[in-house]
Amino acid sequence: MKISVYIATSLDGFIARKNGDLDWLPGSEGDGEGASEDYGYHQFMESVDVLIMGRNSYEMVLSFGEWPYGEKRVIILSSKKIEIPEKIAKNVKSTSSSPAELVDQLRKSGAKHLYIDGGKTIQGFLNAGLIQEMIITQIPILIGSGIPLFGELDIDKKLRLLESRAFESGFLQSKYEIPK
Ligand SMILES: NC(=O)c1ccc[n+]([C@@H]2O[C@H](COP(=O)([O-])OP(=O)(O)OC[C@H]3O[C@@H](n4cnc5c(N)ncnc54)[C@H](OP(=O)(O)O)[C@@H]3O)[C@@H](O)[C@H]2O)c1
Repeated sequence: MKISVYIATSLDGFIARKNGDLDWLPGSEGDGEGASEDYGYHQFMESVDVLIMGRNSYEMVLSFGEWPYGEKRVIILSSKKIEIPEKIAKNVKSTSSSPAELVDQLRKSGAKHLYIDGGKTIQGFLNAGLIQEMIITQIPILIGSGIPLFGELDIDKKLRLLESRAFESGFLQSKYEIPK
């Protein structure tokens, strides 16, 4: 089973402003610069069985109004009980399991490719040594402060750069492997 991250960051390493705003992310409103190019997102999503995201990311996605993940199986991580709207409840569940427990359950259920999303959530999976691949798209903007992609680690993580692609928009997408 593969476990991946696919995420966009500002050049200074933030995934959202402190209040969660993504206004600095071109195309976040579905228009403007970068909107016609999907940076491999569709292809990536097609290979994913289960999307695991933190409660903060889930709440941000819900606030957009339309649920963007269709029938994709989604698991929300939270220590609390999460209210899930009925129209998405068939495919969306929440859990307070640890990253290791969750990965174990999903492996046993036959999942092949997990997509981990949300800063704190990614940090938890990274620290547990569970991420194998990270596709990071750097947006050429400095926003000064915000919610960071990375945080403290128990031990250093050495990554291997598998490929790097510069787009006309100035976005720079790098794919890393995290060897065991
Ligand atoms: N730039 C991008 O591509 C991108 C992508 C994704 C998200 N974002 C943005 O990032 C922001 C959210 O990131 P974030 O770092 O604040 O948080 P996050 O990872 O989305 O959510 C954190 C929350 O998830 C729960 N959680 C995480 N790991 C857990 C675990 N092991 N066990 C139990 N619960 C766990 C906790 O919820 P409880 O507090 O309920 O326990 C925690 O407070 C949003 O603004 C979102 O829009 C940006």
